[in-house]
Amino acid sequence: MAISNRVYEVMMMVCVFFVVSYSLFETGEPPLTLDYYAKTCPNVLQVVRKEMECAVLSEPRNAAFVVRLHFHDCFVQGCDGSILLDDTITLKGEKKASNNIHSLKGFRIIDRIKNSLESECPGIVSCADILTIAARDAVILVGGPYWEVPLGRKDSTTASYELANTNLPSANEGLLSIISKFLYQGLSVTDTVALSGAHTIGMARCENFRERIYGDFEATSDTNNPISKSYIEKLRSICPQVGKAAENNITAMDNVTPELFDNSYFHMLMRGEGVLKSDQELYSSLLGMETKALVKKYAADPLAFFQQFSDSMVKLGNITNSDSFFTGEVRKNCRLRLCSLVITKLTLNRSIYLAAFL
Ligand code: HEM
Repeated sequence: MAISNRVYEVMMMVCVFFVVSYSLFETGEPPLTLDYYAKTCPNVLQVVRKEMECAVLSEPRNAAFVVRLHFHDCFVQGCDGSILLDDTITLKGEKKASNNIHSLKGFRIIDRIKNSLESECPGIVSCADILTIAARDAVILVGGPYWEVPLGRKDSTTASYELANTNLPSANEGLLSIISKFLYQGLSVTDTVALSGAHTIGMARCENFRERIYGDFEATSDTNNPISKSYIEKLRSICPQVGKAAENNITAMDNVTPELFDNSYFHMLMRGEGVLKSDQELYSSLLGMETKALVKKYAADPLAFFQQFSDSMVKLGNITNSDSFFTGEVRKNCRLRLCSLVITKLTLNRSIYLAAFL
């Protein structure tokens, strides 16, 4: 009797566990909390902040690299650190996908933070959480808003080259296609416009703005205040119409305050000076009544932009990978899954063992 009661209790506990987990994921509520590491790694926020301060102080563009890394992580399988995985024989990662290759940077900054945290509290803080906190700190360090970061993400044991190619928006994509990619992730039109405001920092490569500066650049110009000839000439000299040699030449996406997180990106769009086609479409597309109104709002009201950007970044960070809560892990090295580490270690041990006998 005692045994069957015990079996009954265990079965009930298992059921409750599944019902709670199911309802958590069904309601779309990620099981993330603000104090997730309070007991296990109380200094996590300070460690990340210190490393980010060094990184941004030495090179302000590092802030842009990290913010973009976080975005590209979250749009593929949710924010699960999948973007950080290097390719291996058994894993085709996301780094070589069309919108990432030759373009996505900042991986070493995350490595450095991870190393510091492995000394402070080994095996506790996931790479996905590190990237989310680092992106928040990056924004603050270049003058942007603060928000609290819910934590408790796990690192994926998979990555998806295919999803990276399909889910990530690209520079020459039309407005509706971009909005649909955000909606697919549970982000609204308002989130799309506010998050695009991240282009107030960082640079774009010629490959990504060539079509724009030899296309409708002058047509989207404000008729009362046309774009200066010298600005167009400058962009065209950085990025000639033909030739592969200039493909990696860069220009700032905010030509007024490129290293400051402010709302001048929205003023640029209103002048018709958006560097990427995808940016300018938010203001100039005939299909973009709602996005145009939002651009005007954030240009007129920097506080409204900061508030919405913070809220939208929390939403972006909460795109979780429900699989990774069950099958995920906390990697030791953000570039490698734990199982790859074991294999590498075994291979190393075997080589040492063989070397001793040869
Ligand atoms: C709306 C759709 C978006 C498109 C089409 C897009 C596309 C791009 C492209 C083409 C670049 C230049 C990359 C290069 O030339 O190497 C870029 C840079 C950047 N993007 Fe986006 N992006 C989008 C949204 C976002 C969002 C939501 C964020 C963050 C919340 C973001 C953050 C950044 C940052 C910070 C940079 C500068 C990176 C650097 O300096 O290297 N982008 N983006």
